[in-house]
Amino acid sequence: MTHNGSVPFVDLITMHRELEPELVNIFKSALESAGFIGGPMVEGFENDFAKFCDTTYCVGVNSGTDALRFALIAVGVQTGDIVVTVPHTFIATTEAISQSGATPAFVDIDAETYTMNPARLREYLEQQCAFDVAAKRCRHRASGKRVAAVVPVHLYGQMADMDPILELAARYNLAVVEDACQAHGAEYFSKKENRWRKAGSIGRAAAFSFYPGKNLGACGEGGAVTTSDAALARKVSVLRDHGQSKKYYHDLEGYNGRLDSIQAGILRVKLSRLALWNEQRRECARAYNELLAPMAASVTIPAQPDWSKPVYHLYVVRTDFRDDLQKHLTEAGIGTGIHYPIPVHLQAAYASFGWKRGDFPVTEAVADQVLSLPMFGGLKPEQQKTVADAIADFASFILRAETITPEFRTQ
Ligand SMILES: Cc1ncc(COP(=O)(O)O)c(C=O)c1O
Repeated sequence: MTHNGSVPFVDLITMHRELEPELVNIFKSALESAGFIGGPMVEGFENDFAKFCDTTYCVGVNSGTDALRFALIAVGVQTGDIVVTVPHTFIATTEAISQSGATPAFVDIDAETYTMNPARLREYLEQQCAFDVAAKRCRHRASGKRVAAVVPVHLYGQMADMDPILELAARYNLAVVEDACQAHGAEYFSKKENRWRKAGSIGRAAAFSFYPGKNLGACGEGGAVTTSDAALARKVSVLRDHGQSKKYYHDLEGYNGRLDSIQAGILRVKLSRLALWNEQRRECARAYNELLAPMAASVTIPAQPDWSKPVYHLYVVRTDFRDDLQKHLTEAGIGTGIHYPIPVHLQAAYASFGWKRGDFPVTEAVADQVLSLPMFGGLKPEQQKTVADAIADFASFILRAETITPEFRTQ
């Protein structure tokens, strides 16, 4: 089992080297104008990103977490409300819910797409909630709290199945805020509307992260809210800037959550390449799918429903032998990641809520089995072959071990 050459999990250096002259120019023009906060670089990026997402507005903010928090507050989430999401996500989703004053509630994910299972959302609403038709309010029966919003997470660059989620949200008067922090450019085919729709354009608002490793990443922190609702965009832009509608006139208490202009300029340069980079990621995913097909008995490749055009922020396989496979790949010089090893409902931060193992079985099984393989725009075919060969080595070892020791699987 010898392997030549290592494969990084992600390569952010080569891409920035190629863009260096343009990125340095952004920095220079910020120095020359001293325009570090707001101004034309931020507005230019906001316009371009709104266009990219097929929305009317984009409001740049300081991070994806800010984007989610501001979007939730702007759609009307209030202290004491419940917001429903999935436990298979990055903790920022629930941090933003809590920081908007609400309590997170979870529904389990779909075993193939790893995103919100609309059937579980329906169960939650039908079995645990009651809808007051006159007040148009959805109430959680046990706690008496209002259920105000739902946050589907387009995880790994894969869209949640939005048609049934939107239908349920409309029936129960819930605001839909998309967590599109991993899904810049992903698309969903709405059967209801008979057209492809971009991530970020489907809910009342959506949140994007521009953390450096994202498909569209800043050289620092960054995020954005997209929406086609003018009042909502206005509210987010007030929230991100200390609640001021004009300088020193504070309509409400807000936050320091602005996107700085150097990051906005950098993001604008990168946005012009995003469609190409996403296509490269899709091509890499197709290549992995082919290379890994012979190992289907031990490694499950990502599902791609016919209604989804993912952007493969991550290429995530599933296997019963995840920890051993990760160790094997690490020894072969191949970088991997686990997104995410502990479901949010089992994190120590939420111990006081009393959630336990068994509450969300699909999420829990997935968290034990997922492994993210190297994935980035410039990933080369020979690097993918190295990864696939190392997995094939491992798979043949597993098959041999199972043949010799049938109980191997349960060890
Ligand atoms: C699904 C998801 N939601 C929210 C966030 C928060 O974004 P940020 O790190 O920019 O605050 C992230 C970032 O990793 C994410 O992956």
